[in-house]
Amino acid sequence: MRSFIFHLGLVYLLVPLLAVRVSLPLELKPPRKRTSPTSSRGIPGVVRLFEPALPNVSRTVSVDLLGGITSVGEYYTRILIGGQPVRVQIDTGSSTLALPVAGCSRCLPTDQRYNPLLSNSQHRRTVSCVHELCQPDMCASHHCGACSATDACCAEHDHEACAFRLTFGDGSYAKGEIMIDTMTWGNISAPVVFGGILDDSKDFQREMVDGILGMAYKSLACNPTCVEPPFQQMVRAGVISDSFSICVTAQGGRLMLGDFDNSLAKTPLTYVPLALSDPPSYYTVNVSNKLTIGDRDLVIPSFRAGILDSGTTLIVVSENTFVLILDHMLRHYCNVSGLCHDPSWFLPSACVPLPAEELEKMPTFVFHLGSRGEFDMQLRPTDYMLPMTGRPGYRCVGIMAMKEMQGGTDVIFGNTVMQRYVTHYDRKNKRLGFAEAVEGCGETINCSSYTQCRECAGAAPRCAFDYRSHTCHQAQTSLGIVPYPHCTGASCLCRLGPEAPLVFGFLAGLVSAIITGAITLLVIALYSRRGFNNAMHEHPPSYSIGGDVMDEDQDDFDDPQYVQPRKKYMPVPSE
Ligand SMILES: *[C@@H]1O[C@H](CO)[C@@H](O)[C@H](O)[C@H]1NC(C)=O
Ligand SMILES: *[C@@H]1O[C@H](CO)[C@@H](O)[C@H](O)[C@H]1NC(C)=O
Ligand SMILES: *[C@@H]1O[C@H](CO)[C@@H](O)[C@H](O)[C@H]1NC(C)=O
Ligand SMILES: *[C@@H]1O[C@H](CO)[C@@H](O)[C@H](O)[C@H]1NC(C)=O
Ligand SMILES: *[C@@H]1O[C@H](CO)[C@@H](O)[C@H](O)[C@H]1NC(C)=O
Repeated sequence: MRSFIFHLGLVYLLVPLLAVRVSLPLELKPPRKRTSPTSSRGIPGVVRLFEPALPNVSRTVSVDLLGGITSVGEYYTRILIGGQPVRVQIDTGSSTLALPVAGCSRCLPTDQRYNPLLSNSQHRRTVSCVHELCQPDMCASHHCGACSATDACCAEHDHEACAFRLTFGDGSYAKGEIMIDTMTWGNISAPVVFGGILDDSKDFQREMVDGILGMAYKSLACNPTCVEPPFQQMVRAGVISDSFSICVTAQGGRLMLGDFDNSLAKTPLTYVPLALSDPPSYYTVNVSNKLTIGDRDLVIPSFRAGILDSGTTLIVVSENTFVLILDHMLRHYCNVSGLCHDPSWFLPSACVPLPAEELEKMPTFVFHLGSRGEFDMQLRPTDYMLPMTGRPGYRCVGIMAMKEMQGGTDVIFGNTVMQRYVTHYDRKNKRLGFAEAVEGCGETINCSSYTQCRECAGAAPRCAFDYRSHTCHQAQTSLGIVPYPHCTGASCLCRLGPEAPLVFGFLAGLVSAIITGAITLLVIALYSRRGFNNAMHEHPPSYSIGGDVMDEDQDDFDDPQYVQPRKKYMPVPSE
C-alpha cells in the first residue's frame, strides 16, 4: 500500500513535468492489437521522447542492490515498468534493458513479468516494425519474422512489431519485441525504450532475477535495432546526472545514480581516464602488463586493456594468463598449505577450506590501472579469496579463466574487485573512480525489498520469510531459532515452491513434538548438501604445470568445489 501511494505520488509529481516535454512518438502501436499503425510527424533518427530539461540541476537517487557475490553470483535492483515491479541485474558490461513480458513462453514461472496491458503509463507502446525507430537494413538475419519495406527486422512473434534479440557470447539469448514504457527507479521516472522478452534460452534465465539492465554505452545495445541504454535515456530526459556509483558487499549493496556517494567511501577517490573505444562500448581502462604479486612483478604480455563490469562475478583472465599466475604462485607460495599439491587447489573459481593462517601467507595482487599508473588496484588475499556463503571456513578463488577473451579486453574486473572498491562511473568526465568501501555498504538492506522465499531466506541471513503473508522482514530470533511461520536460511525448503510451508510446518511440528534436534540437523544437512551439489559447477579445465610441483603436508584438498560465476560473456552486437 505504501509503495502504491508513493508511486501514485510520483505519477502526480511527474505527469505534469512529462506532459510538457514529451514530443509524442509516431507510428507506434499498442501491443498485441492488430490496428494499423497511425502516422504523424516525423522525428529525427535518434529516439527522442524528451527534450532535456534543467541540465544544470544535479539529480541523484540512491537505491538498494540485492544479491551477493557467492550467494547469488550477481547484484540486482528493483525497478518499476509501467508501475509493475521487475528485478533486473545491474550490468555495467552490457547496455540493454530486457525484461520478461507476461506472454513469455519459456521464461521462468517465478519471474516477475511486465504486462503491457496493465501498464499505468500513457507512454506504453510496442514499437511497430514500420516505425523509423525500428532500424532499417537489419533484416539480413534469419532470426527476423519478416522484413519491412525498409528492411527493418520484424519480430518472430508478431510481424507488425519491431524485433528484439539479445545474444551473449556463450550463445544464450533473449528475444521479443521493442517496447516503450515509463521506468521508475527509486524516485526518478522517464519513458524508456527496451526489449520485451517473449522467449529466452535456459542459460539466460536466473532464478532470482527477472531481467537485465545494461549500464554501458549505446554501441552494445544493437539487438538488432540500436536503442539508447535506459540510464542514458534518463540522463537525456534531464531526470538524472550523467554518472553513477556502485558499492557491493557479500550481501547486497548500494547504487547511487547521478553522483558518487561519499558516505560509502573511507578513502578519497582516485580516477583513471577511460580508454573508450570508438564508438564507446565498455568501461575500459588501460592496464599495465605488470601484475605485482606480493613483492614481485609478473609480466603478462597480453595485458593492455581491462573493463569494469558489475555483471561479471569474478575477475576474468584468459587461460594463458591464469597459467602464468598459477605458475608464479607455484614458484613462490608453496608455503601455503596444499597450494603446490598436484593438482593445486589454486584453480579458477575453486573453493577450498582455507584457515586464516594459510590465507595470511598468500600475496597481495596489485593491478596497475591507467597508462600512467594512475591507480594501483590492490587485492589482498581476503579480497580475492572470497568467503563462501553457507560454507564456513571455505574460500573461493575469485578469479576465473576463459579460453579466449572477447571484445578487445584482456581482463574483466568483476564483483571480486567491486566488493573492495566503491567505483564511480564518471561518464561525464570519461573516467572511473575508485575508493575503498566502508564496511558493509549493504548493511542498510531493507528485508522488505526481497519478495520471494529463496531470495529472502537464501541471500540474506538477517531476513526471515513469512510463509503466510509471503513477505520478508528482519529476522527476530530467540536462541537462534526463528519460529514458524517465519523461516530463515536453507531450512526454508524454498525449492519446493508452494509446498515449502506445508512441508516446513509439518517438519517443525514433528520435530518440536517428538524428535531431538539431531534429526532436524540431519534433514537440514541432507537437504543443503543436495542443494549444493545441484549448484556445483562442472570440473574446470585442469592445468598441467610441469616440473616444480611440490608435495607438502597431506591436507585434503583433493576435491575442491567451485563457486558458480555468472555471465562472463559479452553481448554480441547483431550484424
Ligand atoms: C547552465 O547550463 C548552461 C548551458 O549548459 C550554461 O550556459 C549556464 O551557465 C549554466 N548555468 C549555471 C547556473 O550553471
Ligand atoms: C530523490 O531522492 C533523493 C534522495 O535520495 C533526493 O536528493 C532527490 O532530490 C529526489 N529526486 C526527486 C526527483 O525527487
Ligand atoms: C590507452 O592505451 C592506448 C595504447 O597504448 C593509448 O593509445 C591510449 O591513449 C591510452 N588511453 C588512455 C586513456 O590512457
Ligand atoms: C611464504 O612465502 C612467501 C614467499 O616466498 C614469503 O614472503 C612469506 O614470508 C612466507 N610465509 C611464511 C609464513 O613462511
Ligand atoms: C523497509 O521498507 C518498508 C517499506 O518500504 C518500510 O516500511 C520500513 O520502515 C523499512 N524498514 C527499515 C528498517 O528501513
